[in-house]
Amino acid sequence: MMNPELNHEYPEPGEAALIEKMVKLAVERMKPQQGRIRRGQHAKTTGCVRGEFTIHNDIADDLRFGIFQKPNQVYQAIIRFSNSSESINPDGMGDARGMAIKLLDVTGTPATPDTDNRCQDFLTINFPVFPFATPAEFVDFFDIRAMPFVGDPLAAAWLALSNYRHLNIAREILGEIVTSPLELTYWSGSPYWLGSPATANGHAVKYTLVPRFEETGPLQDPNSMPDDYLNQALARHLITREAVFEFRVQTQTDPIAMPVEDVSVVWDESVSKPIPVASLKIGMQDVDSPEGRSLAEECETMAFSPWNALAEHRPMGGINRLRQAVYLASQAKRAVKG
Ligand code: HEM
Repeated sequence: MMNPELNHEYPEPGEAALIEKMVKLAVERMKPQQGRIRRGQHAKTTGCVRGEFTIHNDIADDLRFGIFQKPNQVYQAIIRFSNSSESINPDGMGDARGMAIKLLDVTGTPATPDTDNRCQDFLTINFPVFPFATPAEFVDFFDIRAMPFVGDPLAAAWLALSNYRHLNIAREILGEIVTSPLELTYWSGSPYWLGSPATANGHAVKYTLVPRFEETGPLQDPNSMPDDYLNQALARHLITREAVFEFRVQTQTDPIAMPVEDVSVVWDESVSKPIPVASLKIGMQDVDSPEGRSLAEECETMAFSPWNALAEHRPMGGINRLRQAVYLASQAKRAVKG
């Protein structure tokens, strides 16, 4: 890839074999936890809530595609907050924090042909980059992790030797102390198309969600907190007031400094400023009520994926191409429909 162009993907040779290998590695790791097979990643739910996603009425023409086409349109949404580990751990343990948004009753042509998908999902974490650049790097890491007994420390050592910058991203993610899922900024990390499905009219973009209110109180030592303190913080918040996130898109303006095929590189927000295009309102609700609990139970059987998307929002780049089959395999193993 000597001279990459704007808004283009560059699949690695041999990617199909890598994807097949990753599916096997991912599914083999999925063992029952607390009575059932959980998601292969992001196993622990820290909150499952309803929300409303409203499209702004002042979106520039070059971003008005797919769900952003109609000003003021409101989509009902279900939002699942999670810890990213494959194991259900106390919230005090370092982890990436996920926010997955599912917009319901979306009409249009799906990104994956021959599906009856009627949702638009956005999967984000509280960090702008992913610690693995490409499918090859992620598969190598999981391959080493799969070794009995020594897998995890050996994989960390391999990462330190082969790519110290990426190990540092992982360390930074794990080191962040968080107070509430509703107080974090979230990034898609990986890029997506935003444009016409059939022509080159559009942009490669990343997504950001920024909370519209200030942090509450000082951070405490997470180890002294209850195992489910993140869910408790979310519950306390939504009993008394709504939470609002601004949803922004950041366009790729430089194909080298802002790569599509390397998700470990930050797209500099001072070079290409994320543009607000919608707001996500999570209204007041009682997540501990019978309805709240039943929604949380429903979340366990729901299937979020970057590939539950309209063609206008097609996922781009190697890590996203890798994710398609892996999410479907994880969802098949836990017997939910993708
Ligand atoms: C930028 C990179 C990534 C981001 C932002 C991300 C984010 C997320 C989020 C937020 C969830 C939780 C979805 C939910 O609540 O149901 C999730 C689930 C999952 N992720 Fe990722 N992820 C990324 C990359 C990957 C990669 C590279 C893999 C493996 C190839 C992977 C494997 C999984 C799996 C297996 C699940 C569970 C799927 C299911 O059973 O529903 N993720 N991811």
